[in-house]
Amino acid sequence: MFNEEQYQLATYKKMPIAAERGEDVWIYTSDGDKYLDLYGGHAVAGTGHCHPHVVKAVQEQAGKLLFYSNLVYSQARARAAEKLVSIAPNPLSKVFFCNSGTEANENAMRMARMSTRREKIITFSGGFHGRTADAISATFLGKYRALGKPNVPGHVEAEFGNINSVGELADDTVAAIMLEPIQSMAGVRMAQPDFYRQLRELCDERGIVLIYDEVQTGVGRTGDWFFAGSKTGANVVPEIVTLAKALGSGVPVGACLVTDAIASHIKENDLGTTFGGGMVAMAAVTATLEAIENDSMLANVKRVEAYLRRRLEEVEQVKAVHGLGFLLGIEFKDKAAPVHQALLDQKIITGTSSDARVLRLLPPLSLQEQHVDLLVKALG
Ligand SMILES: Cc1ncc(COP(=O)(O)O)c(C=O)c1O
Repeated sequence: MFNEEQYQLATYKKMPIAAERGEDVWIYTSDGDKYLDLYGGHAVAGTGHCHPHVVKAVQEQAGKLLFYSNLVYSQARARAAEKLVSIAPNPLSKVFFCNSGTEANENAMRMARMSTRREKIITFSGGFHGRTADAISATFLGKYRALGKPNVPGHVEAEFGNINSVGELADDTVAAIMLEPIQSMAGVRMAQPDFYRQLRELCDERGIVLIYDEVQTGVGRTGDWFFAGSKTGANVVPEIVTLAKALGSGVPVGACLVTDAIASHIKENDLGTTFGGGMVAMAAVTATLEAIENDSMLANVKRVEAYLRRRLEEVEQVKAVHGLGFLLGIEFKDKAAPVHQALLDQKIITGTSSDARVLRLLPPLSLQEQHVDLLVKALG
């Protein structure tokens, strides 16, 4: 399709559609077709495609100043940082902006090492944290870690949901425990609330930094702003939360939210990136958070999630629905890949996962009941 395959490395498995235009939960293709997007381009379209408030903010900023680095002050950057911190649970009080999820995780691990003067990092079976060297070395899901060989030393694997397996590894050489609080790619797996509470206690006891990779769960996806500090997560707040994906509604941006205690260890020039905190990305961040607030999307996620779960009970082939808010894994009695294809044939985009029976939904936070009805009808 077009010349992508001729001129690009063949590293992505693609759906046979060419996206040309987007509006809310809809993607319009070059062929004039219209698809219901329940995948949001890898969980990026949190505010939906081309939310007018975000588009306006990005357009206005682009006309004023596309970019200047962190060598100068910027009102756009200050506003985005203030807004993001204002919605973060206490005691997260400072932000570092970067450009992607993997970069946010690299910086989070670096800050943990700097603040503890230790090196080891514990992550979990089934976790995915990105593809740059340190993040891929922290990724124990499937084949990814091997792709990053030679791996960064000092990464060890605990069993997700099993506090004893973490306790055995958590000695005084461990800088951080990092986890996706809901493991998305693994098939949308959650632990019991006790697990998060026990992790917090273990970290407090042994001087270890707790990092939540909220690249997927953050920015409203679960129906709360973050999994950190949420009731479902036993109100646990880690020292560092990493964000990307939906944070800029499609404009690339990542962030680490940190406590004052972590911030106190970070000195001038310890971290940095040219594009982090660029003005267009910052305008997108502020407008994204405002759009979620203005349109009451958090409440919408909770309401429509409940409806979706109810309606999916009517579908005979559905065995269980995993996850929270709009990060949902539909577990089928048989393989999910044919369902993914059949839905695509009916012009509905969903996602697969590394669990062959689980279909993932990561729709815009604006999804409504009538869109759920379209999905249920198509599944039927
Ligand atoms: C939980 C999680 N962490 C990190 C990443 C890496 O983010 P990025 O692709 O922006 O580097 C991803 C990407 O899928 C992710 O799902």
